Amino acid sequence: MEKYVLGIDLGTSSVKVILVNNDGKVVAQEKGTYDLIQEKAGYSEQNPEDWVISTIDAMKKVIDKSKVDKNKIEGVSYSGQMHGLILLDEENNVLRPAILWNDTRTTEECEKIKERLGSKFISITKNTALEGFTLPKLLWVKKNESNIWKKTTVFLLPKDYLRYRMTNNISTDYSDATGTVLMDIREKKWSKELCNKFDIPLSICPPIVNSTEFVGNISAEFSKLTGLPTTVKVFAGAGDNAAGALGSGILSSDTALVSVGTSGVVLNYENNISDDYHGQLQFENYINSDSYYSMGVTLSAGYSLDWFKRNFYSDKSFNEMIEDARKVEQGAKGLFFTPYIMGERTPYADATIRGSFIGVDARQSRADFTRAVMEGITFSFKDILNIYKKNGKSCKRIISIGGGAKSAFWLQMQADIFNTSVISLDNEGPSLGAAMIAAVGLGWFNSISECAKTYIKYGKEYTPDKEKVAIYKELYDTYHLIYNQTKLISNQTKKVKIC
Ligand code: XUL
Repeated sequence: MEKYVLGIDLGTSSVKVILVNNDGKVVAQEKGTYDLIQEKAGYSEQNPEDWVISTIDAMKKVIDKSKVDKNKIEGVSYSGQMHGLILLDEENNVLRPAILWNDTRTTEECEKIKERLGSKFISITKNTALEGFTLPKLLWVKKNESNIWKKTTVFLLPKDYLRYRMTNNISTDYSDATGTVLMDIREKKWSKELCNKFDIPLSICPPIVNSTEFVGNISAEFSKLTGLPTTVKVFAGAGDNAAGALGSGILSSDTALVSVGTSGVVLNYENNISDDYHGQLQFENYINSDSYYSMGVTLSAGYSLDWFKRNFYSDKSFNEMIEDARKVEQGAKGLFFTPYIMGERTPYADATIRGSFIGVDARQSRADFTRAVMEGITFSFKDILNIYKKNGKSCKRIISIGGGAKSAFWLQMQADIFNTSVISLDNEGPSLGAAMIAAVGLGWFNSISECAKTYIKYGKEYTPDKEKVAIYKELYDTYHLIYNQTKLISNQTKKVKIC
């Protein structure tokens, strides 16, 4: 008998909902969008109610479009943008807009954490304190919005809030809990030491569960809003990079993941907790407290290309813009772009740095600029791959997902810049990962890897082109110089009041 699960990927620019059958076939998918609120430079917020409204809308459309009998939908789970902070009062009302992963207002709080705990912080959380993470955001609210802080009874992460609205259950999963940098990864618990040190009541930390844990059924209220029966079982879900890795079949360390969403991620499976990058890469739980992955994050990957398109290519479609870029020469006639338009995280944890176009030449057209943006984003991934290389980790192949995997041209560019084979995926990684969590949670499969065999379908493999690899190597060496050469300028610019 055919049966179905829903996978919900609550991203930064949109929510994607897919309906998947027990053979792993995506029978329908829909998207809903919402706005990013950027009140000041470095601020990035969203209204949690917008997530709920868009998700309901997308879910209804998926169900209608598929014409599937709703009673055959057995489960749902989530992939969610990581690190975002949602604060609830004692009646579970949202106290302020969510502060997102790409918000960089918390430099002072990060410095305070480093000052007070030094390397101890990394040994507890396996991460360094960076602006995007949840703990510095909690400290920012505590200091700057004491009225809100006093009313806070629990904090949640984005997908956890959505799940709460669908089930009334309050919890988070291990992947998102490690992303808060408030969890003791060895103890597998919220860190009492950190909570005490920073005067954060342990009571505001939600219970932590495995991603595949059943947390409740669709509530009667949510059932009325969507038509989904209350028999639908809900499973905790994971942060979007864990879910994306799962949906791409990253289950061993010989295959890395490159993902271009709003952010860009290079991710590796980790066999155990002892592998230490000293906080230079993020280190998170995967889908339970005994599995791990590491990653480096380019804060504005797809976002840089979206920003460029919006401002300079709005008269053409995305595909036309990419096609124009394909037609110009490799290296965009000496033009380089660094994607630091909202600061950067890896390898430069620097909220102040800003992007640049270097090497502007009268021969270039806007197609060269597009190409430079695409190459710059991909060079920033190479920076992350090089951290792995320095730590003795190399991968045999790379699975590429997200916006970067939608174009054969960009996939080949990735293979040439990384000098590694790049394989595309037939589906979207994070939403498929969410659906897999539900399928495993329901007991349809005995294990994640069994589910992966049925659900994941790879596309074409792109192998490096030797000549292009050699040219990109030289171009990358130049790209790599730009950060240090522009750091001072970004710092100076920040001091100018009107900037
Ligand atoms: C990961 C990160 C981003 C968000 C995007 O640390 O900040 O990739 O998860 O949703």
